Amino acid sequence: MEPKFLQLLSCILLLLLPNPFSLFTHAADPPDAQKPSAMDFLQTLIGARKGTTSKGISQLKKYLSHLGYMNRDDDDQTNDFFDDNLELAVKRYQTSFKLEVNGIMDANTIAKMSRARCGVPDHYSHNRSHELYLHIPAFSSHYTFFPGEPKWPATKRNLTYSFKPGSRTHRIKISFEVGDHGDVQPFDGPGGILAHAFPPTDGRLHFDGDEAWVDGAVACKIDMQTVGLHELGHILGLEHNTTHEINIMSPYINPGQRKSLAQDDIDGIRALYR
Ligand SMILES: *[C@@H]1O[C@H](CO)[C@@H](O)[C@H](O)[C@H]1NC(C)=O
Ligand SMILES: *[C@@H]1O[C@H](CO)[C@@H](O)[C@H](O)[C@H]1NC(C)=O
Ligand SMILES: *[C@@H]1O[C@H](CO)[C@@H](O)[C@H](O)[C@H]1NC(C)=O
Ligand SMILES: [Zn+2]
Ligand SMILES: [Zn+2]
Repeated sequence: MEPKFLQLLSCILLLLLPNPFSLFTHAADPPDAQKPSAMDFLQTLIGARKGTTSKGISQLKKYLSHLGYMNRDDDDQTNDFFDDNLELAVKRYQTSFKLEVNGIMDANTIAKMSRARCGVPDHYSHNRSHELYLHIPAFSSHYTFFPGEPKWPATKRNLTYSFKPGSRTHRIKISFEVGDHGDVQPFDGPGGILAHAFPPTDGRLHFDGDEAWVDGAVACKIDMQTVGLHELGHILGLEHNTTHEINIMSPYINPGQRKSLAQDDIDGIRALYR
């Protein structure tokens, strides 16, 4: 059991020690708190609740659908009416992140949603994993896996990576993508969604090429190594931990922060590959 885990860990370390991410580090732009973010539409939604109409509601519906809080087909997501389905979705989001569960776009909910995060849904259906069909958040007492607990089979655990997709010998395919790039979720420009990855044994790891990536803890910037390590967690089979931000598998990351593996992350990988 231990050697298998060490093999996986060494895959992670391979990525981190020679730090291939540093190849892609941009020269730091001057910090600018006023930069437009994909989540700016939320600022007009303060106080929005069921029965109201506001510009930006349709974007909110799309956002919450992408993250698995509402079903894409439930609802006409092109209108700006705050309906029952959206209220339910907001309540589910608030439950996930231990906010006050009132179904209202209050200041705390907007503050949380405005933050930069991973685009992998927080909740998957147990039937149709890529359709993002919602299941009610049920708190397990531990790390979580994708439905069906997909993992890399014993014969495929020598994980090699490439920044140039196409080579069949590389199981992890890392690339920078911008906007709609032909998979489940288009990227959204600066801010908002930073990256996403696919459960085993897919191997695709996409970074949003519109972010100003940096290598390290730089004020107001997002550390590529932290996000890369998080996405590798998905590649290996871990789902989000929405309740404790200390974990690398928390969907949110603070600008200027570098995180590493926490005990829950390590326990999750050990349990999956024991
Ligand atoms: C999930 O699968 C079960 C049984 O296989 C089925 O009854 C249920 O309708 C499915 N749910 C969805 C959302 O597809
Ligand atoms: C999240 O991680 C904490 C430890 O940091 C753990 O106590 C908790 O059970 C985890 N929750 C989920 C849902 O994974
Ligand atoms: C994993 O693959 C690499 C590159 O093909 C090879 O050098 C290495 O010996 C392999 N390791 C194991 C444990 O199979
Ligand atoms: Zn994630
Ligand atoms: Zn993608």
